Amino acid sequence: MVIRVEAPSGGYDVTIGKDLKIAPLMKLDGAQKIAVITDDNVRALYYDRVEAELGQAGYKVCCCTVPHGEQSKCGATFLNILEFLAERSFTRRDGILALGGGVVGDLAGFVAASYMRGVRYASAPTTLLSMTDSSVGGKTAIDLRAGKNLAGAFWQPTAVIIDTETLKTLPDAELKNGLGELIKYAVIEGGEIVELLEKGFAENAGKIIASAVDIKRKIVEADEREGGLRRILNFGHTPAHAAEKLSGYAMPHGMAVAAGVNLMMRASVASAGCPVRDMKRIKALSEKYSLPTSFGYSPEALAAEAFHDKKADGGDVNLVVARKVGKTECVKLPIEKLADFYAGKGEKL
Ligand SMILES: NC(=O)c1ccc[n+]([C@@H]2O[C@H](COP(=O)([O-])OP(=O)(O)OC[C@H]3O[C@@H](n4cnc5c(N)ncnc54)[C@H](O)[C@@H]3O)[C@@H](O)[C@H]2O)c1
Repeated sequence: MVIRVEAPSGGYDVTIGKDLKIAPLMKLDGAQKIAVITDDNVRALYYDRVEAELGQAGYKVCCCTVPHGEQSKCGATFLNILEFLAERSFTRRDGILALGGGVVGDLAGFVAASYMRGVRYASAPTTLLSMTDSSVGGKTAIDLRAGKNLAGAFWQPTAVIIDTETLKTLPDAELKNGLGELIKYAVIEGGEIVELLEKGFAENAGKIIASAVDIKRKIVEADEREGGLRRILNFGHTPAHAAEKLSGYAMPHGMAVAAGVNLMMRASVASAGCPVRDMKRIKALSEKYSLPTSFGYSPEALAAEAFHDKKADGGDVNLVVARKVGKTECVKLPIEKLADFYAGKGEKL
């Protein structure tokens, strides 16, 4: 299945399938050399196959492997990869293949945006989160000491190649991380993705991933640079970020998002006219996948963290509320009213 993304700064195909051949889909025509950027886990599982395939297609292939985990999304690793490319005399005609999860995708994308002021890169995401979220939309980034994703660029890939077979080796905890974000898509879009998730992820993985990609496509096509609409992708994220911080980042992001989505559904029932049955439907869906539906933190503690969150804008916090499953909306709330809102005691919005 192919979904065409037409971002204002460049279009690309997202191909979703099983046992896909990467070389013909990369859209890196004219490149002589390809640098595969990956992490140690993914390299051990998939690099040999990719190297052989790209080699057979006539490319000169080299591999730059970073340690797995968020700590690789840093300035030092970013510069090391740029040096790696320069030492191998990569030119603007050559290309990069990001092979891995969101960490590799964000890092390789930012390297591509920066090397010689911009080279082409294709993306082969291998986690559920990167297939359905980070690989589409062109946001690339590294973390700074002061916070996550503070340096980066909007830089679109030439192609996104999603081989759902790679999910077979993904640890359960990482699958759940992606499912947390899928619950968010279910609230944003309603309809088919909710029904497919209710039927079961394993049986419908390809269709669910395609549905999520298509939802993200619609949003990023309309708002590539996060001017407005794209903010609805943050549904559930303000309390989720607060809880992640309060846990010292021990709480995995997908778990925090699932709990944040459910908290926002409860608050949306109280303040935004969301039907109770919709809130219960999302709770049941979360429970089906053993995702948390609440935090172990008080509304006050979660609200206090929003003061430091980048989503706080002057005295107001930007929130996304659900009018119902399938209809979300950005609203502004004075930050001092956030704790009451989280507690389900907020005013009508
Ligand atoms: N750019 C965006 O729009 C955007 C959106 C959401 C998240 N992100 C970023 O994505 C990152 C998180 O991405 P992630 O959740 O994919 O984490 P990740 O890239 O750290 O991957 C998770 C773990 O799974 C392993 N792994 C990857 N694919 C595997 C496979 N097929 N089989 C076995 N193991 C595999 C990795 O080695 C790693 O240990 C964060 O840095 C976040 O900021 C970016």
